[in-house]
Amino acid sequence: MKLSISRYNPELDSRPYMQDYEIALVPGDHMLLDVMLRLKQQDSTLSFRKSCREGVCGSDAMSINGRNGLACITPVRTLHGTVVLRPLPSFPIIRDLVVDMTNFFQQYHSIKPWLENPEPPPEKERLQSPAERERLNGAYECILCGCCSSQCPSYWWNPDKFVGPAGLLQAYRFIVDSRDKATDERLENLRGPYRLFRCRTIMNCAEVCPKGLEPSHAIEKTRMRMLHVEASGELDTHTPPAGRPSITN
Ligand code: SF4
Ligand code: SF4
Ligand code: FES
Repeated sequence: MKLSISRYNPELDSRPYMQDYEIALVPGDHMLLDVMLRLKQQDSTLSFRKSCREGVCGSDAMSINGRNGLACITPVRTLHGTVVLRPLPSFPIIRDLVVDMTNFFQQYHSIKPWLENPEPPPEKERLQSPAERERLNGAYECILCGCCSSQCPSYWWNPDKFVGPAGLLQAYRFIVDSRDKATDERLENLRGPYRLFRCRTIMNCAEVCPKGLEPSHAIEKTRMRMLHVEASGELDTHTPPAGRPSITN
C-alpha cells in the first residue's frame, strides 16, 4: 500500500509537508489503523492518536483521501491507489496527524453536556418511558471525534462563535431528555446569530459522521423548538439573524 501522510514537527518544520510511504500488506491488515500501527514501527517519528481500535473513543479521526473518518473502522479494501492522510481540517496542528481540540471541547462544554434537574433525586433512578428514551436515539451515540465540526464550513469560519455540529447535537440530546429541566435555559444559551443559527444546512456533518449520526437534523429540530417557544411567548422575542435558513419540516 502507498500512503502520502502530512508531516509536521513544530520544532523542525516551518510548515506541514507530505511524506510518501510504501508498506506491504499482511493478512492482519483489516483496517487502515492496522497499517498505520505497522508503519509506525518503521518510522517511530510518525504521530497520530488512537486508543480503542473499535470506533468508540474517537481519537483517530483524520482526513482520509479528503474525507474525515476514523482510521480504525476504515477497511483497507475500500482504499485504492495512494492513500492521502491529513490532520482534521481547520483544527490547529500539534504534530503530524495530531490536532488541538481545545476549541472543539470548549464549544462542547458551553452547552452544559450534563443533566440539569433541581428536583430531589428519587430513591433509585429517574425513570423514562420507552417513548421518552426513544427520543435520545441518534443523539447519545456521539463519540466526540470531531469529524463533523472539522468538515463544517460554518465552523471553519467562526469556531469561537458557532457551537458546531457536534456540540449542537449534544445540546439537542439534553433538550429532548425528559429528565432534564433546563430546556428554556438551553435554548436561551443558543440564541443569537452565531451559536445555532450559523449553520447553513450544508450537511457535511451528516455526510462524514462515522457513527451515522445526523447533527444537521438535530440542529433543525432545535431551531424548530426555539421558534415554537418564541411563538408561544415563553422566551423574549428577538430579531432573527439575516440569512437564517428556512425550516423545511
Ligand atoms: S449542516 Fe450545519 S452544522 Fe452541518 S456541516 Fe452544514 S453548516 Fe455545519
Ligand atoms: S456527531 Fe458524529 S462526527 Fe460529530 S463528533 Fe459525534 S460521532 Fe463524531
Ligand atoms: S481508535 Fe478509538 S475510535 Fe478509532
